Amino acid sequence: MRAYWPAFATALALAAGWSQAQTQKESAVPPYKDPKLAVEARVSDLLHRMTLGEKVAMLAGSGWMESQPIERLGIPAIKMADGPMGVRAWFGSSAVTNAAATPRIASTSFPAGIAMAATWDPDIIAQEGKVIAQEVKALGRDMILGPTVNIARQPLWGRNFEGYGEDPYLASRLVIGYIKGVQGEGVIASVKHFAANNQEFERHRIDEKIDERTLQEIYFPAFQAAVQEAGVWSVMSAYNKVNGLYCAENPYLLHDVLKKQWGFKGFVISDWGSTYSTAGTVNAGMDLEMPGGEPMKAWMAKPQTQADGNGAGWLTPDKVQAAIAAGEISTAAVDDNVSRMLRIMFTAGLFDKPHPGGGAVDIAEQKAVARTAAAESIVLLKNVGDLLPIAKSIHSLAVIGPNAAVARTGGGGSSLVRPNYSVTPLDGIRERAGNGMQVTYAQGVSIPGEDANKDSPAARAQLRQDAATAAAKADAAILVVGNAPSIESEGFDRKTLRLPDGQDELIQAVVMANKNTIVVINAGSPVAMDPWVDQVPAILTMWYGGQEGGHAIASVLFGDFTPSGKLPVTFPRKIEDTLAYGHYPGENLHTEYAEGIYVGYRHYDRANIEPLFPFGHGLSYTKFDYGDLKVTPDKLGPGRRVQVSMTVKNSGSRAGAEVVQLYLHQGKSSVDRPPQELKGFRRVMLNAGQSQAVTFTLDARAMSFYSVAKHAWVAEPSAFDVLVGASSRDIRLKGSFELTAR
Ligand code: BGC
Repeated sequence: MRAYWPAFATALALAAGWSQAQTQKESAVPPYKDPKLAVEARVSDLLHRMTLGEKVAMLAGSGWMESQPIERLGIPAIKMADGPMGVRAWFGSSAVTNAAATPRIASTSFPAGIAMAATWDPDIIAQEGKVIAQEVKALGRDMILGPTVNIARQPLWGRNFEGYGEDPYLASRLVIGYIKGVQGEGVIASVKHFAANNQEFERHRIDEKIDERTLQEIYFPAFQAAVQEAGVWSVMSAYNKVNGLYCAENPYLLHDVLKKQWGFKGFVISDWGSTYSTAGTVNAGMDLEMPGGEPMKAWMAKPQTQADGNGAGWLTPDKVQAAIAAGEISTAAVDDNVSRMLRIMFTAGLFDKPHPGGGAVDIAEQKAVARTAAAESIVLLKNVGDLLPIAKSIHSLAVIGPNAAVARTGGGGSSLVRPNYSVTPLDGIRERAGNGMQVTYAQGVSIPGEDANKDSPAARAQLRQDAATAAAKADAAILVVGNAPSIESEGFDRKTLRLPDGQDELIQAVVMANKNTIVVINAGSPVAMDPWVDQVPAILTMWYGGQEGGHAIASVLFGDFTPSGKLPVTFPRKIEDTLAYGHYPGENLHTEYAEGIYVGYRHYDRANIEPLFPFGHGLSYTKFDYGDLKVTPDKLGPGRRVQVSMTVKNSGSRAGAEVVQLYLHQGKSSVDRPPQELKGFRRVMLNAGQSQAVTFTLDARAMSFYSVAKHAWVAEPSAFDVLVGASSRDIRLKGSFELTAR
């Protein structure tokens, strides 16, 4: 027995040691929870620990704005919030969340996307992204559903105000700033809506026929830049069909272009109610169906949701499991979807640094960005006789219009932010005018439907008369006209380019009463001005300026801020001049993008149509001289770059910023090319008398078109004209270079 004892004791001790080690091993933090481990190692470790059921569960949301958490493994939900111009509520569909009764999310309301685009300032957009992300975190969310980068194909699109305008290059440069700003804070951005969501009319059913070159040259570049240059973590697929297939089940868009050509490593999320199949959707490369769970079921049960053409509930576990069992979906495809979500969750820090919420929003820094952006976005369209800035000799102002005493901070729909406060143009003007100036107000006309008592012809005549009387008594009249969320919104298109009923007549009556009339357009897209544009000496557009719009417009009117905004969209004279006239909104749920690449100024330039105000246009209170253009080298072989330099000088008497624009024209080409295309721009802030050298680099992509034959971007040997100017129709400097075959 004795002899046995030591051996027995040793065996016991060994066994105890073994089991201790085992316990330690089991309680040890699994590798995927180790923040120091590489993201890909964490993804693969976690994926191996998941059951198929758990993976499948992650393919659809758990609620209106949350992905499915897996508690057993500590996988959190991705908590989303709408955007892009601030953090919007996340409780339900936009109709619900925009109603006064819902709990308020009081966050900072930034200018609409179109206004941000009018700044031509990637830096302010990056700052916007950063402070929005700070609010996302402060409110306990992880992801913002934005930015919107769909191209303004035609001016009636209800959501033009959300995007960055008509030019793919401009939109591409700006989207990078927004995404880097957001993601730099560890918040997921979701660039949307991929692809070609360019009309609200029948957005759930419309099939758009768009050729490959047009997609690549016009509708894709902002998404491509988001993926390849900004490294966006999520992409939202669009509602519409492109070339016969819904975007959420379109393998060309999601698999071939996004994931294969561009190398996208993040996850694709469906737009809310845009899925129509199980296997088709998963196999096309759509990773996460939204919304999900009970909120999705309740929403889909509403007759209106169905009637609108929404589709949802296709990636529920039962349907996905059945499709796997039937061999229609592979487990590898499911692994890919889940890996993409996990990859971004690890990268964004959702496992390691969750966002519990409870932080402060609408703080000074956020307000300051909203205000600067709003001021930079204002475009001075016309200023005959230097009526602006308001001169010292003006002692009284009549502020008139349906948008003067209301803050129209944004267009309607899912992007509309409800701020703590908002400054109306009238408030901003009164505050700035101070006691030394008399400011009167007259509504002049109301937005149709907002006040039934004011819509009759007699009521309108009276309001108009009161406004004209007020204008006649003042030294100058400021008319704030434009649209409202009831006219310009997600969910429907505008019916006309015209201002809402009664506004043209009001402007005419006011300018008759006072020749010092300044018209401020408060809208998210171009409006027709032909009935009065020649009579009114000064016109500006303030877009939808967010909560600080009223301060911003006052600072421009009084000359505290020199206007520097430039149009990111062409303002046409009439709807018949627009390219999509005749091709929009399509027939029998089909629409052909027959204009091809001739979108925006490309169309007006080719068709030789004089726009009301051209793309890139925007006046200043100071003057800028352009000079010293140098293009080097003037001859180059394939793959080489061209350096363009010039000097811009502020030759006026006040500080201001100029946006120098560079357009390129290819002399000879095997395919049709637009007369000019934007390939560079720089916003330069200059004191009076100051000048600055500006340089641009033109690479192969800048010279290229998309070749359908080669499925690639091709720079053909040719002479190129370099056109540098203050707008697409105000070219001040011309140079050239030659791209040779070798
Ligand atoms: C919009 C998206 C939005 C989503 C969630 C959809 O109707 O098209 O832009 O992010 O709703 O609110």
